[in-house]
Parts: sequence; C-alpha cells; structure tokens
Amino acid sequence: MKDAQGEAEKLREQLRHHEYLYYVLDKPEISDADYDALMHRLQALESQYPALITPDSPTQRVGGKPREGFVKVRHSSPMLSLDNALNEGELRDFDRRVHDLLGSSDYCYVAELKMDGLSMAAHYLEGQFARAVTRGDGSVGEEVTENARTIRSLPLRVKGRLREFEVRGETVMNRTAFERLNAERDERGLSRFANPRNAAAGSLRVLEPQITASRRLDYYTYFLLTEGRPAFDTHSQALRELSQMGFKVNPHHKICRDIAEVLRFCSEWEAHREDLPYEIDGVVVKVDSVAQQQRLGYTAKAPRWAIAYKYPARQAVTTVESIEVQVGRTGALTPVARLRPVEVSGVTVSRATLHNEDEIERLGLQIGDDVVIERSGDVIPKVVRVHALGSYRKEFQMPDKCPVCGGHVVREEGEAASRCINTNCSARLKESILHFASRGVMNIDGVGDALVDQLVDRGMVSSVAGLYELTVEKLLNLERMGKKSAGNIIRNIENSKKNPLPRVLNALGIRFVGERTAVFLAEAFGSMEAIASAGLEELQQAEEVGPKVAQSIFQFFREPRNQELVDRLRAAGLQFQYQSTRPKGGPLKGLTFVLTGTLAHLSRDDAKKLIETAGGKVSSAVSKKTNYLVAGADPGSKLDKARELGVQVVSEDELLDLIKVG
Ligand code: IVH
Repeated sequence: MKDAQGEAEKLREQLRHHEYLYYVLDKPEISDADYDALMHRLQALESQYPALITPDSPTQRVGGKPREGFVKVRHSSPMLSLDNALNEGELRDFDRRVHDLLGSSDYCYVAELKMDGLSMAAHYLEGQFARAVTRGDGSVGEEVTENARTIRSLPLRVKGRLREFEVRGETVMNRTAFERLNAERDERGLSRFANPRNAAAGSLRVLEPQITASRRLDYYTYFLLTEGRPAFDTHSQALRELSQMGFKVNPHHKICRDIAEVLRFCSEWEAHREDLPYEIDGVVVKVDSVAQQQRLGYTAKAPRWAIAYKYPARQAVTTVESIEVQVGRTGALTPVARLRPVEVSGVTVSRATLHNEDEIERLGLQIGDDVVIERSGDVIPKVVRVHALGSYRKEFQMPDKCPVCGGHVVREEGEAASRCINTNCSARLKESILHFASRGVMNIDGVGDALVDQLVDRGMVSSVAGLYELTVEKLLNLERMGKKSAGNIIRNIENSKKNPLPRVLNALGIRFVGERTAVFLAEAFGSMEAIASAGLEELQQAEEVGPKVAQSIFQFFREPRNQELVDRLRAAGLQFQYQSTRPKGGPLKGLTFVLTGTLAHLSRDDAKKLIETAGGKVSSAVSKKTNYLVAGADPGSKLDKARELGVQVVSEDELLDLIKVG
C-alpha cells in the first residue's frame, strides 16, 4: 500500500505535467499512447486501493455523478457584460470617454481576443479546484462543477502561493472538436449544433459529466479575483500570474499605449481570425490599471473601463449556380451548393453545405436563387436563407445513382440522408480511410486527403487494412513522396497498432459506434472476438447500447467483407483485447444501480465509487436494465419510473447490506 501510494503520487505528478504541456501549452512531449498508458496504470492502482484516490487526481476528471438538475448559485460579484463598439468611430468615442473621465492621457489598454464561448467562474480552495458556475444572468448562475472538472485545460490544482481565489474566463469549443461533434451527430441522426458557442454551452450544461468530457471543451481565463476583487494592480499582471499558476491564458493579447495601437490589433486579428483554432467575434479592450478601472466605475450593466469591439457578422449574399452531391464514409449523399464566388470576411467562398434534401426543402431553395450565406465555425459555410428567388429557377433532385460509383441510392424510412449502398464505392472507401487515420481515432499523422486519393485511385489500398500492408518502397512510387516522409508515414502506421481496443472499434466506422460507445463495448466484452460474436440481446447489456445500436453492430460483424477486414486487422497486430480498469468481480457484479435523492451517510460520489468497487455499475436513468434504485430523502421522478417498471427500490442501509452479504 505504501509503495502504491508513492507510485500513485508520482504518476499524478507526471500526468499533471503532461496535461499542462498538452492542453494548456499545446506542446505535448509524449505520445497519446504513452499518456494513456500512464493514466491506465494510475486507474488500475486506484481501483485496487480506492483509499488512494484524491479529488484532484487526474483520474477524477470524469466520474462525477450525473445530476437531476442544476443548483443556482449567486456570484461573488456580478459577472457583467460589455458595451459594444461596432466600428472605429465608436471605439474612438469610448477612448474619449475614458480620457475625459480620467482627466489625462496617462493610461494604457490591454487588447484581448473576444472568444466566442460561454463565460464561467471557477473557484479554488486550498489551491484546489472546488466549484464552477456559469454566468447565467450575471448575478446568479448554475453550478456545473462536475462538468467543468472534465475540461483538461482547467487545472484541478494550481502552482504558486495564491490558495483561495476565483478565476473567470471563457469556455470554448475549438473548430476541430466542433466539426467532429457535428459529424458524429449527423452519423447518429441527431440535429447539428449551429455554431461552436452553442455547442460549448450545450456541452457544459448537460446533466452527465461524461458527455461534457467527450466534447473536449477548452477554458481560457481572463480574470483573477480574491474576495470578489481583482487580485493585482494591473490586468496585465493578473494575466501573467494566471499563466504561471497553470491556467490557460490566451497568448494573443497586447498592452497598447493608445487607441491607435488598439485599432491596429483589432484589424490585424480581423484579417487573421480564420487562422485561429477557435472562433472569435471581436476584441475586448480593457484599461490596464485596476486603480483607474475603479475610478471609471460601472454603468448599470457594464464597466466603463472596458468595451467589446465587435467584428461584423460574416454573412454575404450570392447566387446558387448548381448543386453537387458528395459521398461520405457511410455512403451518405450530401448536397453542396456551388456559389458565385463571394468574399466573406477576407475569404472567398464558393461552396456551402446543404446537409440533406429536407434542409433544401426547409429553405425553399432552388438552383438560381440568391441566398444569404454565413461562416460560423464550420469550415464549409452554410446557407442561412433564400434572399431572392432566381429569375431562372430549377428544382434540385437527389440522384438515384451514386455520382461516384453509379451504385444504388436508397433513403430509408425515418432517415434524413440518402445513401449509396455499394460498400465498394471509392468515395466511401476514401472517407473510411480518412476516418480511420484521423486524430482521436487511430491518430496516423500524414494520412490525409492527398495521400488517400492516390492510394485508392491507384488501387494500392482497397480497405483500411491495406494501410498496414504498405511499405516505404510502395509509397515511393507516389507523386511528390520523398524517402523521409514515406518513412515517417510508415512509422506512424506502425505506431498506430498500439492503440487500445476502443480506438480500433471506433476506427471501424460502425454506424452509431463513436468514441464513447466503443469504450462501453470494450468494457462490457473485453475483446473484439466477444463483440463480434455477441447476439443482439447480449450486445444490449453494454451501457448505452439500445436496440438500434445493437442491430447496427450485429449487422456489421455478419457482413463477410467486414469479417475479412477484421481478420486482416488482427493479422496486422492491432489490439483486440482490452484490459478493463474497472474491477471485474465483487458482490455486485453484473448489477446496475441508479441513485436518487439525498443519502444519509454517503455522498453520491462515494456511493457510486462503493458500488463500482464492489463490481456494480451506476447509470443515470432508470430503465428496464436497472436492477436497483437506491433512494434517499426527497427522491425525484426516478422513483415513480422505478415503480412503473417494477425495479426494486432499496435504501442506503440495504445497499450496504447487499455489498456485505453478497
Ligand atoms: S471580459 C466585465 N474578456 O464576452 C468584463 N470577456 O460581451 C466582462 N468574452 O460575458 C468580460 N472573451 O463571455 C472578457 N477576453 C475576454 C473575453 C470576454 C470573450 C465574452 C464573455 C463576456 C462577453 C461580454
């Protein structure tokens, strides 16, 4: 136990360091696989000795309890909004007011990017993350502690001497995470998020922390308060301190001597906003000196010492010249509008996605119409509405043959997408390979559009398994391929064999099986073989696997082409076994619990850990799969649901008995 404690502490230190390098500084020093290995080792130690778990352990980011609702919390001091300046003149007016109120020119500004997300306060006690609250209406917000804990760039423990304080900042979703999320939602037939801000807000305000964790949010701080007041004499100093404490501070901020310098900063970033990995909607300008901020004071709703310089909306009007159809990984056909090229905030746009037939109908769009297009997070802009009907209009018809391979196109009952059903379709193959190799899946750097196009078009790869049969010599036959890059690509492909089973499962591209479901499947079955041979009923034993998902997995493994693919991947040496970090045996093995109400002795977290350590599972909602509902005082609607479904209801004491007796 003593050794284990020492090892756990060392692992935590290492993990914290690597999380900081990766999530805050964006400069990882070890591979994802090595990071995962450290994390698995710590998880294994902690599940063997639960007494070793500390609340600020990197393993505790996910695992918080699902909630039944959010608690409202009053902010230590109001989280105000800002007045807007919509053009240069209004920004100069702001500067004039500051100048007149201070009665001198002896002040400077800090100009910062205005990130388009959701503001949130995070409280620290004894140097440890204690509580997070959304902005809400500015006076009262919602407590989202467990969800915020899953944000990797929010340190659970800070460096430095400040122990009790509050930080404020912006929760954002970067463009790649946003696009991935929407692609996953398309895949699962769910509605898309309109922009990264909505996606960030939706992800922070979910009842289940595991969902927040899977959304990869980021948190940038821009305020440091002790006892509800600024902690340092200048804002720029606070930003420096925040950085040193281990927080992520947007590096693109600048101390400006006068308003001309601020304006230069604004226009420089307006030209480069597309190069940033996240969305911004302007620049926030703040008077640097806190003493001067205090002299300037506040209006009823905003400080007089700061202003938001807003960039114009990124919309434009243009004509739809034609509608093309693209084929995705699952064979889904996506209509894309070809536009008369138009400039939107510095970028020439000539295409916009139309998602599917229903969307075209909703817009009432025909070829030849003028439309309003908007860039909002997605790489491909979207059509917001029809602006004017074209004088020559032509209705769009979804083709009944695949535009790439000529295969049959089918639109199933209740589905928005039409699909090419030819599994040999080269467009589908290319997309499958790109998905397989992408970041967060098998992470094979260097396998991008250009390479995949060549590999498929030259017949060098006819399934994802073909990647593992490539060699440096074969790659050297391709255009513009040097020895060095060929070597790197082959090495990256080789390294990808170390990815654990959940990644491999996700990489197969089974419909409805994303990152999260893949983990549940691996946890429940322990190997690819067990999943492949499981029956429909059996598959539904895995967490969050309902009839629709089970059907899709079952069908996938019954398809001879897929069986062959799996065999080839096994032969290539990919990871088909999974070492679960959750304890297997225990008195509650195979039982699923749901918790409701307030328990007399145990916190929800403790009860959950206890059940899991005894081999049971805790899920958030009562269903037919629930074995017991543990009900405390003031139970919610879950109790009614349990009674309705005939699920056994037990008290806290009865739960403890079950663990002892079992
Ligand atoms: S300062 C009293 N700084 O913009 C000062 N806000 O329009 C209030 N925002 O509610 C905020 N980036 O959600 C500040 N660097 C930044 C910001 C920022 C984004 C958001 C924040 C705020 C809104 C005000």
